[in-house]
Amino acid sequence: MIQMNTAFSINLPAVPRPNRRPRPCALLTGLLLAGSLVSVATTASADAELRAAALVVIQPLPDNMPGAEHDTAAGIALGKALYFDTRLSENHSQSCNTCHRVDDNLAGMDNEPTSPGAFAKRGDRNSPTVWNAGFHLAQFWDGRAEDLVEQAKGPVLNPVEMAMPSEAVVVERLEAAPEYPELFRKAFPGDANPINYENMAHAVAAFERTLISRDRFDDFLNGQDVALTSKEKQGLKVFLDSGCTTCHNGPVMGANAYHKSGLVNPYEFQKDKGRFDATQDEDDLHKFKVPSLRNVALTYPYFHNGKVPDLNDAVKRMGWMQLGTEFAQPDVDLLVAFLTSLNGKGLKPVK
Ligand code: HEC
Ligand code: HEC
Repeated sequence: MIQMNTAFSINLPAVPRPNRRPRPCALLTGLLLAGSLVSVATTASADAELRAAALVVIQPLPDNMPGAEHDTAAGIALGKALYFDTRLSENHSQSCNTCHRVDDNLAGMDNEPTSPGAFAKRGDRNSPTVWNAGFHLAQFWDGRAEDLVEQAKGPVLNPVEMAMPSEAVVVERLEAAPEYPELFRKAFPGDANPINYENMAHAVAAFERTLISRDRFDDFLNGQDVALTSKEKQGLKVFLDSGCTTCHNGPVMGANAYHKSGLVNPYEFQKDKGRFDATQDEDDLHKFKVPSLRNVALTYPYFHNGKVPDLNDAVKRMGWMQLGTEFAQPDVDLLVAFLTSLNGKGLKPVK
């Protein structure tokens, strides 16, 4: 196995054996009790060591997203109304929530390989989750939008998504809706003409900045030893030791750099030129924004084109494609167990 970042390699002592049978002899019981206290202590220090190693490369999710300091309750309320409004699509069939489901505690996407748009056409890329997206260095798989505001202007006019003919038509529709003049006025109090395309995008972004998920791994990083099972802790150790954190690091475990998909060995389903489309730079061919791994067990299918249905398979492919490592199945199981601890509390997939 190739070890790319052995600097973070640590030794996890053996986990204490469960189901130890009590013995009749008092002395022996005393010794056993002392022994188990020692092993509890060693487990606690092993947890502290594991946590310290993790914190070098991964941080708990911050409390607020960048830009949220300017958000107001009125702006967020308007953004939420817009996010769920099918009038933002040409034939009133789709809202942002159609492809990025956040109703009913859903995990921020539709669990489709690619998503059908207003006129049932599909794009080539998998819909990413909107949970925690405001922490990313840029938006879209290729990073072509610099932030949530710029991103939100895209899908409304995209012919394979919401398919509105022009910004002007969107604004006309918003002006004609009974509730929006008031909502926009409250959200943009200093603005003489608050209903415009730019403000629509700002409000949607304000709502999206509230979408921060919390998971058990955060609790572990914040000091709760019992937040992860022993299997998940072993998986975290494999994750740290095998080089995944070369790319999946920081608070969302990714989304802070672009890397080639198929760095060491090619991705079987590679057609998409990735970031090259945004920059026309040969160096960016097949590079993608490294996806965040928060909620990853809920956001199948995987990779930019959604061609890989199952997390077990995605993890094996990552080892091979990005690290040149052929993981044994027990290590894949541990990695998958760890990744499952990144499920936002209470969140669930569509199907
Ligand atoms: C028809 C399905 C569809 C609709 C409707 C849709 N999106 Fe998306 N969204 C996608 C797809 C597909 C991508 C990835 C496209 C790419 O990277 O080229 C995406 C990307 C995003 C991203 C970037 C996430 C990341 O990790 O880079 C955000 C944020 C987002 N959409 C928010 C929205 C908002 C807000 C709306 C409503 C204004 C919306 N989407 C409407 C399918 C959709
Ligand atoms: C060299 C950088 C790099 C390394 C190392 C790396 N990844 Fe990735 N990872 C990526 C990129 C880039 C993608 C997106 C690939 C694509 O869509 O074609 C990705 C995608 C994924 C996905 C799918 C996410 C999704 O939402 O579709 C999972 C799961 C994943 N990586 C887990 C891992 C694990 C586990 C390891 C360690 C065994 C690892 N990665 C190592 C860069 C890396």
